[in-house]
Amino acid sequence: MQDEYQQIYNEARLILETRLNEYRLLHSISVADTAASMARQYGVDVDKACVAGLLHDWDKNLSDEELVERARGFGIEMADRLEDLAFLLHAQTGAMAVKQQFPGIDPEITQAIARHTSAAPDMTELDMIIYIADIIEPLRSRGNLTPLRTIAGKVPLELLFLKSLEMTMEHLIKRHRFIHPDSLQVWNSYIARERGM
Ligand SMILES: [Fe+2]
Ligand SMILES: [Fe+2]
Repeated sequence: MQDEYQQIYNEARLILETRLNEYRLLHSISVADTAASMARQYGVDVDKACVAGLLHDWDKNLSDEELVERARGFGIEMADRLEDLAFLLHAQTGAMAVKQQFPGIDPEITQAIARHTSAAPDMTELDMIIYIADIIEPLRSRGNLTPLRTIAGKVPLELLFLKSLEMTMEHLIKRHRFIHPDSLQVWNSYIARERGM
């Protein structure tokens, strides 16, 4: 790992011990490892993937109230039904907080952090890797992740991302959870792309 990234990784790792509970800390390290190995397979910057993976849940342990307050402070636009969707804000507030904590950090990294919950219609390769690694990292046990884990690294990255998005939508619907309007927009834009529209 390049010095610049190794330094951020080491410092972040220590700070995260105070910000996250044990499970979330291990999850973050696991996302970093998974993202790094995916980056290697897909020819994406491994250092950026590893650091973005470690930092992606920076604000995950904040309460809904804290997240809303933080989002207001950062001037982040918030959806309706905030009471059901506030937890999603940890991605955007985390990205802003990371930018403050590590001035000069590559904006590709903070963008990937910001997009790891609701995704975006124009995901970069790094964005997709962090989104997917968050779902398939080995400590995660949500539904049946075997099909996704099996094709990771073997199919084109965008297809893997679409499959991950599909799983997330399915998961939300089955559990009767709210879907963020941005996620629906992302889903529709990728479906349109798949159909060559
Ligand atoms: Fe997260
Ligand atoms: Fe996560």
